[in-house]
Amino acid sequence: MNMIPIKNNVFYMGLKDPDRTIFDQLVPLPQGTSYNSYFVKGSEKTALIDTMYPKMINEFMENLKKAGIEKLDYIISNHAEQDHSGAIPVLVEKFPEAKIVTNAKCKENIMNMLHVDESKFIVINDGDELSLGDKTAKFLISPWVHWPDTMFTYLKEDNMLFTCDFLGAHYTQYDLFADCSPALEEAAKRYYAEIIMPFRNFAKKYTVKVREINPDIILPSHGPIYDKPDFILKLYEDWTSDNVKNKVIIPYVSMYDSTKILVERLQSALIKAGIETKTFDLINSDEGELAMEIVDCATIVLGSSMVLAGPHPGVVSAAYIVNALRPKFRHYSIIGSYGWGGNLTGVLEGMFTTVKPEKIDYVIVKGLPDDEDLAKIDNLAAEIIEKHKTL
Ligand code: FEO
Repeated sequence: MNMIPIKNNVFYMGLKDPDRTIFDQLVPLPQGTSYNSYFVKGSEKTALIDTMYPKMINEFMENLKKAGIEKLDYIISNHAEQDHSGAIPVLVEKFPEAKIVTNAKCKENIMNMLHVDESKFIVINDGDELSLGDKTAKFLISPWVHWPDTMFTYLKEDNMLFTCDFLGAHYTQYDLFADCSPALEEAAKRYYAEIIMPFRNFAKKYTVKVREINPDIILPSHGPIYDKPDFILKLYEDWTSDNVKNKVIIPYVSMYDSTKILVERLQSALIKAGIETKTFDLINSDEGELAMEIVDCATIVLGSSMVLAGPHPGVVSAAYIVNALRPKFRHYSIIGSYGWGGNLTGVLEGMFTTVKPEKIDYVIVKGLPDDEDLAKIDNLAAEIIEKHKTL
């Protein structure tokens, strides 16, 4: 992609990175991502809103050149993470007259991470405006989606809102605007789960704020542009609400199938009772899928074999992810099997420091489950079913 007109002298300057497989060495990217940058041509001044991921700077700068952008007055930085700020040092060298317009926290982060000179910045506060002539950029400081430095930029005359990471998606199957497809919904949910969910209360507040602004177009810095904002706002209203679904997620690792027998027995009983139930064999599944599924489930049951007197590391990692992402689940339990001894539940229980779900009695069995053990799983299922009746 090169320079694509969006509306009223606002242009898309972003790049797709469909082959990238992982973000922050943590988040799997089933279809890569895109880094959206926007060029705004006012009657008097020009601005770039967010820039480019460091590995794609050459292509980005080449596109600016091909587009004939020879003068740049402002680089508006909505967030300091390098996938959006990475090109700032090169831009200020190429356009020495350009000023970086951002909030104080973002300025501090850009100076720390990219060693940009302080003289290059104009620091704005919440609600400040910047005139580009016939266009006015208004800044809405919106911390914690997902860093303390995040903000939105609103082009008043065009009713366009640039939200950076907020409302984004690691999704590359689009031309410019959102296709509002189930595939986009899934990508947006995965992205929400991994990036935004730990800050759900902030996201909830900003979703209300965006509704109040009622923009014609929402322009995030990953994924497609929303010319029908209702699609993404409705999804965020659902995900950030306090409501949970009649759904149980069972992430597990089973070494000799004993834990797997417990997991399958539980799943079968819950499904019979009409509860949507998904199991995740953690050795062979993608953490992103797990993250996406825990966005709105009511209950999580961790299943683990005992390894060296403790839970399997794969389950420890899943518990860590659950705790870090802070989903809104209400109940949890642990099931598993051991050979000769140890403490399977203590480590896992201790990992829930930021989430406070209600505990349902654990079922830990010795070796291959017998009828008595399976009856305990049936009791656990009955208890979960009872709890779900109150949802
Ligand atoms: Fe897309 Fe927080 O960077």
